[in-house]
Amino acid sequence: MAGRCHVILIGPQGSGKGTQATRIAAPLGLVHVATGDLFRQLMTRDDPLAREVRSYYDRGELVPDDVTLRVLLERLDELERELPSYRGALLDGYPRNRAQAEALDRVLRDRNDTIAAVVHLAVPRAVLIERLSGRLICPQCGATYHRTFAPPRVEGQCDQCGAPLVQRSDDTPEAIARRLDTYEQHTAPLLEYYRERGLVIDIDGNRPIDEVTRTIVSALEPVLADPSRCRSS
Ligand code: AP5
Ligand code: MG
Repeated sequence: MAGRCHVILIGPQGSGKGTQATRIAAPLGLVHVATGDLFRQLMTRDDPLAREVRSYYDRGELVPDDVTLRVLLERLDELERELPSYRGALLDGYPRNRAQAEALDRVLRDRNDTIAAVVHLAVPRAVLIERLSGRLICPQCGATYHRTFAPPRVEGQCDQCGAPLVQRSDDTPEAIARRLDTYEQHTAPLLEYYRERGLVIDIDGNRPIDEVTRTIVSALEPVLADPSRCRSS
């Protein structure tokens, strides 16, 4: 199997991972794979797995590692079947702790895949809270908006598919605080894990959305074109 070339997006909740991933994935030839989106899709069902995921998700806690890895692998296998020529995944929300990072390394080694880069989006905490409190999402197509910073053309309605916009069930003050604390404790230390391997690209995410997009694309293009970083280029 040809080695895929994946990019990981790491940043606290509200730093713009989802917002940027939907803009940069296609131009870079990557497929956006967000574990949070996979869980939101899964929770539209009513079965024991969906109820288990919801019990963690709504409180802003991490879903257990084994469940999360299974959901991620199912999606990667699906991409192999449906898009055999895809270059790699733009991973948004995975890994989030050391065990997940090590599991990912094992999985990628078995598949002969590589991590081309880890993009770190840095944004101050006060800004994150403001962004998450005003976020609206489309339950139908997953598009993300913000009441002030990225409003839809028609209030309360998705620009892409017209569905009514909603607030995410984990964008409550308690769950936001818990998610940000979990990020600091378990996810931020991963930056050191990847820094040691020379993979981290630091991006100032506290700038207008278009400016952040341009900076990430300019930083990733040469990496993805470099055969020593990305075998599948
Ligand atoms: P997930 O869906 O990944 O949510 P999250 O980690 O809480 O991150 P967010 O989606 O809130 O942040 P984002 O960086 O994508 O921000 P966005 O672009 O939307 O995970 C949800 C849950 O699923 C977890 O809590 C957990 O339960 C479970 N889960 C997922 N992965 C897991 C894993 N690996 N292991 C275990 N459990 C897992 O932007 C936010 C807002 O800001 C938007 O309104 C946007 O319009 C606005 N905005 C974005 N950029 C800018 C900008 N530059 N200027 C102004 N506004 C901006
Ligand atoms: Mg997101």
